[in-house]
Amino acid sequence: MKLWGGRFTKETDQLVHNFNASISFDKKLFRQDIEGSIAHADMLEKQKILTKAERDLIIKGLSDIKEDIINGTLEITPEYEDIHSFIESQLIKRIGETGKKLHTGRSRNDQVALDMKLYIKNEIKETDALIKNFLATIHEIMKNNIQTYMPGFTHLQKAQPITLAHHMGAYFEMFKRDRSRLSDIFKRMNLSPLGSGALAGTTYPLDREYSAVLLGFDGPTLNSIDGVSDRDYLIEFLSALSIIMMHLSRLSEEIIIWNSNEYRFIELDDAYSTGSSIMPQKKNPDIAELVRGKTGRVYGALISLLTTMKGLPLAYNKDMQEDKELTFDAIDTVKGCLALTDKMLSSMKFNKDIMENSATKGFINATDAADYLVNKGVPFRDAHGIIGQLVLTCIKKGISLDELSLEEYKAVCPVFEDDIYETISLTACVNKRNIIGAPGKEAMEKVIELNEEYLNSD
Ligand code: ARG
Repeated sequence: MKLWGGRFTKETDQLVHNFNASISFDKKLFRQDIEGSIAHADMLEKQKILTKAERDLIIKGLSDIKEDIINGTLEITPEYEDIHSFIESQLIKRIGETGKKLHTGRSRNDQVALDMKLYIKNEIKETDALIKNFLATIHEIMKNNIQTYMPGFTHLQKAQPITLAHHMGAYFEMFKRDRSRLSDIFKRMNLSPLGSGALAGTTYPLDREYSAVLLGFDGPTLNSIDGVSDRDYLIEFLSALSIIMMHLSRLSEEIIIWNSNEYRFIELDDAYSTGSSIMPQKKNPDIAELVRGKTGRVYGALISLLTTMKGLPLAYNKDMQEDKELTFDAIDTVKGCLALTDKMLSSMKFNKDIMENSATKGFINATDAADYLVNKGVPFRDAHGIIGQLVLTCIKKGISLDELSLEEYKAVCPVFEDDIYETISLTACVNKRNIIGAPGKEAMEKVIELNEEYLNSD
């Protein structure tokens, strides 16, 4: 079962085997391991280290193993140390002596580094595709809600009126940045460690360029010590995943607030909410709460790997085996959360009347009332004071700014005219904000057009 029994005189203690083995989780890498081995065998033949017949036999054996694992006729069993030993042993079992030549010029150290990179490259693409779908959902909501008015908040206090399109547009930007972060990581990590050997390269004349290109990399890594001991790309990926979760969690938090009885801005679809075992009236936002909760788990993976790596001398150390379970878990978590949030968002109903009604309350147009005075020549600091005074009057009377009479306005400042009412109307407050990035209709339409181009571009 072992690849390294030669210098040992005793069997490994069973507890040690269990503690040391990674096969229970690195079996996820079987495809990448085989893909890497096929490229390695191709390269060995090109360099005349293997004959063509040997190469063909090895590749056929590896391809059969892959197929048998996929169709379930070959089970990956726990008596092997890791997926690399399992596949190599299988190969030798199937094709005999030639199988023993595959590992020429290679170590499990560069092999595992390669497998993980291949795995992550694929996961970056899959995560990116999920975010892109999610962006399309957000885009749809934006297009349909350019004139759905709602309060914008700071400190969770009503601040200024915006639209639902504008609010969702903020999330569009966040997830767009997440995609660009993923693509940056991809570019930086896209160098093949294969051929780094255990840490010092090899004396065989390997063509590292060749195997790198075969595997879809831009080229080989330039230092073999770094090649086997670099886990930066995992840390960067976990960091990008953490930021994605932070964004999903903020959205979840808003969905939870908006779904509360006090807000009722939205109604979650029955298929994406749950009930209470005791309180029959309840419809809980469990999905959003779980997404918010699972964010901690993904942050945990990032901190865990950073901590694992911080004290490691060069080059490979077995500590690095700890990179796998947490990365796999973080990836599964993020992909699940993205897919579910997408469905939850696209199926939920926005109570537009309630949103709009809420935007008319809370003196949300006070800034616009102050700007009105500024436009009539009052210095902003004075205008701020005058409107503050009027707000106080309204609070005492239990009314809003637009319910004050013109006399009441004029009593505080004679500059007020009848046009104050139009100026502080909800639609005017929003639609006069028409510089790029603002919620006004024209500005919003421009951004939505740019978003549409973005979504169509890749
Ligand atoms: N399971 C190991 C890991 O994940 C593979 C590399 C083993 N290399 C070694 N020298 N023991 O890191």
